[in-house]
Amino acid sequence: MSYLMGIDVGTTGTRAVIVRPDGHVVGAATGEHEPMRMERPGWAEQDPENWWQAAVVATTGALGAAGLKGSDIAAVGLSGQMHGVVLLDKAHAVLRPSLIWCDQRSQPQCDWITSQVGSERLIQLVSNPALTGFSAPKLLWIRDHEPALYERAARFLLPKDFVRFRLTGEFATDVSDASGTLLFDVAHRRWSREMLEALRVDEALLPRAYESPEITGQISREAALLTGLAAGTPVVGGAGDQAASAVGNGIVLPGLTSATLGTSGVIFAYTEIPRLDPLGRIHTFCHAVPGKWHVMGVTQGAGLSLRWFRDFFGGFENWYAAQVGADPYDLLIREAEQAPPGSGGLLFLPYLMGERTPHLDPQARGMWFGLTAAHRRGHVIRSILEGVAFSLRDSLEIFKELKIPIEQIRLSGGGSRNFTWRAIQADIYGKDVVTLRTSEGSAFGAALLAGVGAKTYGTVQEASEQAVQAQETMAPQPANVTVYNQLYGVYRKLYPVVKDLAHELASLGIGPKSA
Ligand code: XUL
Repeated sequence: MSYLMGIDVGTTGTRAVIVRPDGHVVGAATGEHEPMRMERPGWAEQDPENWWQAAVVATTGALGAAGLKGSDIAAVGLSGQMHGVVLLDKAHAVLRPSLIWCDQRSQPQCDWITSQVGSERLIQLVSNPALTGFSAPKLLWIRDHEPALYERAARFLLPKDFVRFRLTGEFATDVSDASGTLLFDVAHRRWSREMLEALRVDEALLPRAYESPEITGQISREAALLTGLAAGTPVVGGAGDQAASAVGNGIVLPGLTSATLGTSGVIFAYTEIPRLDPLGRIHTFCHAVPGKWHVMGVTQGAGLSLRWFRDFFGGFENWYAAQVGADPYDLLIREAEQAPPGSGGLLFLPYLMGERTPHLDPQARGMWFGLTAAHRRGHVIRSILEGVAFSLRDSLEIFKELKIPIEQIRLSGGGSRNFTWRAIQADIYGKDVVTLRTSEGSAFGAALLAGVGAKTYGTVQEASEQAVQAQETMAPQPANVTVYNQLYGVYRKLYPVVKDLAHELASLGIGPKSA
């Protein structure tokens, strides 16, 4: 039997999974990344070489876990964190650490792009407004601040496409990931010449863009020696992590929506044609299903918020978990379960890395609102889980405004693995939430795309029919829905009220790293 491999270059690690054509995961492994460097508030960088090392750990580990040889793998699919800028020089050496998706330093470049192109024309050309999250503003930040280095750049790649380059020697990307660069004509699925001219970016920097299941190259001899994969194994275009995760969740038909809770949080829906939000609050990108599109709303600090709490306030849980071999997240969430739905009126805004949907505001800051002396640690932890779900509900509300049908919400990512966080999501979204047999998300979706490239499946929809299976459906509890609806009314008004203050605070330049 031939197997499929998906490799997801995430934020905290690179994960490889090996999948049987019927969707069973037979082996998986993760190579951890070094933590992202945050030299200043809103800055976030990672080292592409570190992704490659992690990819080697993940692929060899997954083959070992499955007890398979490289020649058992019919094809490889890639997925990865979107928007990051990797620059290579003529000799193909990495020029500087990558500014990654959550780096927020490029507001001046966004303003320049908008004035240069015009906000309406931007939507016509690339279907989206200029946001600090996207790649082009980051690229221009490097050009503005490090001109000598930019001059030496011969290639621009997205994170997973750097790993592809190391695996195959090819410079390629796919249409879904290219959509997040702001240089891609999303409606026509090709690089936008007009945009490149307006921004004075040389087209020669860009990789060729393929549809997600198309074959972009083969594993090279050098990569085969390091990864255990067989030389000559085809590697397909793959997808940005959100589109790949959607394929892994079966979001390949109208009416299906997913909520993915990883480092970031994303609400995603399939669309037959490009659907635009006139206010630009959600993104309109190409889907990994050839000839189809999707919309998505993004919360920058979803799992990131709980991880931040675990790292800096979870000293006891981290220590105790290490003693008894438990997971510190489980211990934290057990404490959250002691607090009632609504966390005793405590609201948390998860804007630890600014916010995209709905505020499009890199200077947004996180906050707790409603604290009293009667609140306990459990309330505080629960308010984080709820605040992240409220923030994702903001995206669902925009989908409703745009009349995008939402019949069912499929959950994936780390946040879907915990019962309490799933229940909170069902109650806050007010919809049935469905978990799937595999919660491998993006890496699983990338493996299915590889299967279409290898002709194991005829189409992406067929891959989903054969390999994606629902496991559990959780319905919202009416009493909790009432409490959460009341609190959401306050939640959605909160940031607009403090926005000017958040900007005034940011303008002081007093950050955690300043002297
Ligand atoms: C999507 C986005 C994130 C990253 C990291 O627009 O920025 O989902 O891809 O996961």
